[in-house]
Amino acid sequence: MSNLMSNYYPLEVTFVKGRGCWLTDTSGNEYLDALSGIGVVNLGHSHPAITKSIVNQSKQLLHTSNVYRIANQEKLATRLCGLANMDKAFFSNSGAEANEAAIKIARLFARTKNIQNPIILTANQSFHGRTMATLSATGQSKVQEGFSPLMSEFFHVDFDDTNAIKKFSVNNNVVAVMVEPVQGEAGVIIPEDDYLNKVKLLCKKNDWLFILDEVQAGMGRTGKLFAHQHNNITPDILCLAKGLGNGVPIGACLARGKAAEMLTPGTHGSTFGGNPLVTGVALSVLDVFDSESILENVMKMSQYFESEFKAKIMDCNSVKELRIKGLMIGIGLDENIIDCSKLTQKALEDQLLINITGNSIRLLPPLIISKKEIDILIKKILKLISI
Ligand SMILES: Cc1ncc(COP(=O)(O)O)c(C=O)c1O
Repeated sequence: MSNLMSNYYPLEVTFVKGRGCWLTDTSGNEYLDALSGIGVVNLGHSHPAITKSIVNQSKQLLHTSNVYRIANQEKLATRLCGLANMDKAFFSNSGAEANEAAIKIARLFARTKNIQNPIILTANQSFHGRTMATLSATGQSKVQEGFSPLMSEFFHVDFDDTNAIKKFSVNNNVVAVMVEPVQGEAGVIIPEDDYLNKVKLLCKKNDWLFILDEVQAGMGRTGKLFAHQHNNITPDILCLAKGLGNGVPIGACLARGKAAEMLTPGTHGSTFGGNPLVTGVALSVLDVFDSESILENVMKMSQYFESEFKAKIMDCNSVKELRIKGLMIGIGLDENIIDCSKLTQKALEDQLLINITGNSIRLLPPLIISKKEIDILIKKILKLISI
């Protein structure tokens, strides 16, 4: 028995070391990490540039608070805003907090329009976090159970259904639409290619803020630094976290235009948010994207995974479909043939780390994965789902 609260149910394994796509447990066994700490360690474990950045920054300065200017934070804001075509940044410690900032911005935006009971549209099956506001925004009842009263401003519509959003054009209380470009926690659900373009148009037409939650799909995961760049559009607010710090806790809420002007002194804050350590590491993460052509590797390995999977596994009768965007991978399984609830444990026994969401295997391997490692991954998946 441990003294930890029971909100997690960890698998019976403890890792002590990580290198690239591999983790080592307390007995020295090596596991292929096809989950990256749920889309966090995108550049792999113990990346030398990230380790160096952590060591150097910790020797200089860890924390001062946002009472003073923080050079790394200002540099990171400039760099991210330049890359994402945004105007301003707020730094948080997690994805949920990045989304909280976006929701607060939407409320302040509502006040400028004299709307007292604002509505934010979010999608069914979405996941936006575990704080009270973000779990209310989330479109999954299992995340909300036991926590009512929820915040009442979130109206849920079907994902990838712009007509459902359009119907709200007559509702004067709507102030924003918040969606994920690819739904991650729902099991990698990829919308039609032009979904985001249509949502953007509707937001523009109705003077709603378009909030994109790229906490999971951002930072190179889909093959572009930001997932919406596949669509050549810019949201009003872009939320990032996970891969931004490659393992150090950092989130970012980037905003442009009117949305960037909403937070004024005293309206929002965070003690740790954007401290010299985490923002220094995030700057190094961006450097590695440039120096190691990470996005090119994502596209190459994505194509390689897809072709190898189709050649070797697609005929396996337990597989229904493959959903893949960059290295965000969902494998839909037939629950009549295979018991998905046992697969995480079975994979662990074969020294493979995966996630199961409903009837799907979710894979989020490190973006630095090689062809050789994809071969191993596919072999292990085949073994896992062959009956
Ligand atoms: C799309 C999305 N938004 C928000 C979150 C919440 O992020 P965090 O757990 O860092 O608060 C997650 C986490 O899985 C996510 O996938």
